[in-house]
Formats: sequence, structure tokens, C-alpha cells
Amino acid sequence: MNDGLNAVYEELKRLRLEGMDRVFINDNTLEQLQPCVNQSTASVASAIDLQTAVNSGRVPSPPAPKAPTSKKSNPIDAPLPEPPIIKIPDGDATQRMQWLKEQIEASPFCQEQLRKNDTLVFGSGSINADIFFCGEAPGEEEADNGIPFQGKAGELLTKILSAMGLTRESVYMTNILKWRPKHNKPYGNRPPTQEEMNYCLPYLKAQIEIVQPKVIIALGNATVPGLLGPAPDRNMSEIQGTWQSFGGTPVIFTFQPSYLLFNDTMKTKRMAWEDMLKAMEKIGLPISEKQQAYFLPKQ
Ligand code: URA
Repeated sequence: MNDGLNAVYEELKRLRLEGMDRVFINDNTLEQLQPCVNQSTASVASAIDLQTAVNSGRVPSPPAPKAPTSKKSNPIDAPLPEPPIIKIPDGDATQRMQWLKEQIEASPFCQEQLRKNDTLVFGSGSINADIFFCGEAPGEEEADNGIPFQGKAGELLTKILSAMGLTRESVYMTNILKWRPKHNKPYGNRPPTQEEMNYCLPYLKAQIEIVQPKVIIALGNATVPGLLGPAPDRNMSEIQGTWQSFGGTPVIFTFQPSYLLFNDTMKTKRMAWEDMLKAMEKIGLPISEKQQAYFLPKQ
């Protein structure tokens, strides 16, 4: 049994090195892993690491007792309706953004995606921002209070912004998905499916049309197929740090903050920081020598 658990652990480590920050493990696999987890203290330690990875790469919630599962509550299998058609009315940016928010809030399909105490997570920050941060989907903490990038990962993003000379109020932040993806696990977050992201794309495109940012910084693996469409050889490790285009707006794909929390090596931090420097350069923000040198080995 331990061999099996070690194999899974090694595979998770390998995926993480490749830039994968989330895995979704089905009930069947989790049940098969459970006996290994119970075997020894060492196994429990491994299991905690495993749960960390299972918990979508974010700071893990403490393991909770297993809740009864229901296949019906898992929307992965459910067919999705056609994506909404959004035609933004005339008005100033504030009115147009408010209109868009109301469309999402009034959508029965979006409302159906919410758990009992979850809220939709529309977006926050400046509607005149030059930089538009786009994550994958809200997690538990975001769905609790309706604001993107909360908790430890959100704190790290705030620190990154501060290192760039920016604040959360001076950029715009949202996710491709406007709700926390439901799943039938008692804890953790699940990455959005391609269908879910496709459904929400018109909302995201409308947000970009209103903000008209100079650059988009896309955070997390799922944003690659989410924004560029699925392609077998297009993933984060291939295109991280390179300029792509989303509807004519330059977009750079980089690690999401939760990945950086788990991979806090100088090398990974520097890779992510260089992506921020590229975005700053693209929009003409001044970059000091000190900023240039963050996360470089000391001479
Ligand atoms: N928080 C978000 O709002 N989005 C992500 O993609 C990750 C964390």
C-alpha cells in the first residue's frame, strides 16, 4: 500500500515541478488511498502533503469529516447551457460595469452554481486600470466574501502588487469563472472545467471591454486553456512568461500566488517576478534597480 501512496506522492511532486498547481482526485481514488493514509504516522504526513495538493494548491483547510457524497451535486457531468450573449449598453464605465454585475447576479444558471452561503465573485479594483489580473475561479475564501484573491494567496498577491508599486485598488482583478466550482468533497477547491470557463467567457470579455486594460496577467494553469482554448501542447510550462493575445489585449500567463506559496524557491519567485517586470515594462511603469534585482542571487 505504501508503495502505491509513494507513487502518487512522487507523481504529485513531478506535476508540481511542471507547474501544475491543482489536481482533482475522484472519490474512488480517494477511497482507495484512505487505507494507506491510516497506516502509519509517516503515511499520515504524506497524506497531509497529498491533501495539500488535492486542495487545489491553495492553503489547505483542515481535513473535515467526510460528508455524504452525491454524484448529482457534481456539475462536471451536467450539460451546460449555451454561453450568455452580452451586449453592454451605452453609459460610462461605472454604469456599464454595474449593468454587467447585475446580469450575472440575475442569471438563474449562475445562481444555481452557488452553495448555500457562497456569493458570486464578480471582480474588484479600478475600472480604469492598466493591469487586469485574471485568475481561474474563486475558492472557498473568495466565495465567502465575494472578492477575488483572498486568504494567504490573496495576501501574497497584495505583496507582489506592492513590490510593483501598485495596490489592489489600482489594478482590476477577477476570475474567468464567477462562482466557486461545486464539488462533492467536504473541503478544498476544484479547478474549473473547460465548459464552465467557456460559459463565463462572455462575462470576462465584457469586463475587459469596459476596463480596456493595457495588459492582462493571467494567474494559474487553467487560465491557459480558459483564455486561449484547449490545445494539447499549450500549457503553462510552455507559455509562461511569453506574450500572448486575448481578443487583442496582450496577456502574460504566470503562476498563481497559491502555487508560489507551495514553491517558495528563489527560482520560482524570480520567474514569477520577471513576468511582473515584463508587464510593468509593457505599460511603461518605471522600474528601479532594486525592483530589477528582486529574487536574484546575492552577488
Ligand atoms: N483566488 C482566486 O480568486 N482565483 C484563483 O484563481 C485563485 C485564488
